[in-house]
Amino acid sequence: MTLNEILIVREKLLADLDAMTGAGELDAFKLAHLTRKGTIAAMFDNLRAVSKEEKPLAGKELNLLRQSVEERFAEKEQLLGARRQEGLSHIDLTMPARTVPVTAPGHEHPLMKTLNEMISIFERMGFAVEYGPETEDDEHNFGKLNFPPDHPARDMQDTFFVKPSADWGAAVGAHHAGEGTGASSSMLTAPLLLRTHTSPVQIRLMEKQKPPIRAIMPGRVYRNEAASARSSAAFFQIEGLVVDRGVTMADLKGVLLSFARHFFGSDAKIRLRPSFFPFTEPSAEMDVSCYICGGKGCRVCQNSGWLEIMGAGMVHPNVLSGCGIDPETHSGYAFGFGIDRTTMMRYGVSDIRDLYENDYRFLEQF
Ligand code: DAH
Repeated sequence: MTLNEILIVREKLLADLDAMTGAGELDAFKLAHLTRKGTIAAMFDNLRAVSKEEKPLAGKELNLLRQSVEERFAEKEQLLGARRQEGLSHIDLTMPARTVPVTAPGHEHPLMKTLNEMISIFERMGFAVEYGPETEDDEHNFGKLNFPPDHPARDMQDTFFVKPSADWGAAVGAHHAGEGTGASSSMLTAPLLLRTHTSPVQIRLMEKQKPPIRAIMPGRVYRNEAASARSSAAFFQIEGLVVDRGVTMADLKGVLLSFARHFFGSDAKIRLRPSFFPFTEPSAEMDVSCYICGGKGCRVCQNSGWLEIMGAGMVHPNVLSGCGIDPETHSGYAFGFGIDRTTMMRYGVSDIRDLYENDYRFLEQF
């Protein structure tokens, strides 16, 4: 045993101790090196074989070895032993915490947020909520809504037509049987299409229910349009219908103003502009005062002070009589508007595709 060997063993044992991560390793180390039968004791035994001249120096070095290894062992034991006590030997308490996104538990999509808020406002005004099928027939989507046979809205350009399979009747009947204003009571007839608006649900409701009727009808609609920042082939609408004796345009205006004040703020104003829809007469488009600038003019309202919100009007006598309601004794109003456009205006979303791509970075802002 030379001086050099003593130094090498010392460095090796200290390095071993430094590398230890578990308390179990310490126990094994103690057994191998620090007991009566361990490495260090054996080296002391070997001192006898060292020459007289080298013995004092070797003894000194060996004492130094034992002392430094025992000290380092005690330090390590304290460190690892403390972790063992807390049962945390496998956890690194110095590791930085993982950040959890604030929105991780999930929340409503901005479209559904807008929709649910609108529904609850109308419910508080006494409106029922009705649903109809997304697959429609020409009669309900156009014919009974007083669209003439050659009306451009029926065009292939706008409407997605559905090619029925051999057993489509049974399939469609079964599919819609459970729906409130579904196709079970009045079956779908060819040609089939994806509804281009929620107005056919008005027809289904008047076919199955006698006045008084007071309902909103939310749902998804489809149009054969190329996707762009402003249009999507699928989007959402809410339809409204009130039919009773003596219903007037003043009732319509009152309900729409009330809705606007609840939805856009208590000092919102509305205005009705003359317009045309086949199923209403007279027809109007409703604008609401810009909720951003309050009507002064800004980027969102393109400096007009007004935002176009919805179509509305008095239900056309042809539509009422087509559903078995006498236009001499009853009248009604209807309205319909897009949920996507309103959501975009409300949150300043400039591209409708953002609402459908489900990019987490977009959604977590709501
Ligand atoms: N169905 C129309 C559309 O999709 C919107 C509409 C306008 C609905 C006037 C109505 C209404 O009920 O009275 O463009």
